[in-house]
Amino acid sequence: MTTASTAAATPTQFDERWLTGDERLDGDHRAVLVAINNLGGRIVAGERAASFRGLLDTLETDIGEHFRHEHELMRRSLCPSMASHDRYHQQLLEAFTALRAGLESGRDQLRLFTEFRDQFVYHQNEGADREMVKHLRATKR
Ligand SMILES: [Fe+2]
Repeated sequence: MTTASTAAATPTQFDERWLTGDERLDGDHRAVLVAINNLGGRIVAGERAASFRGLLDTLETDIGEHFRHEHELMRRSLCPSMASHDRYHQQLLEAFTALRAGLESGRDQLRLFTEFRDQFVYHQNEGADREMVKHLRATKR
């Protein structure tokens, strides 16, 4: 197994330190991570894109709903970082679109997959989501 396929095949474990305190957000993060890990395993196993289009559709829908949920939370709580956070979501969606194209064409699959996964995990655990959670906690009544 190459370094790239080992990196893609290694599932990202959910770490309790990543909990946000918002049940729905945490549920979304767990579910998306399970789907991403599932996808990584299937790519490394050499499955063709046609066999996991359903998984990609579900993942795309789940990510979109999750981002809408976060946007609504930020809007309601007047989160000052909402505009930049929305831009990060847009970048993640673009990374997902690039991944889908790569899977369909059979090019750069492992690189595109690990880039998307690592970007999503970073966003959730150390990036804009952390900042949003701090604001949500500070403004909770
Ligand atoms: Fe986010």
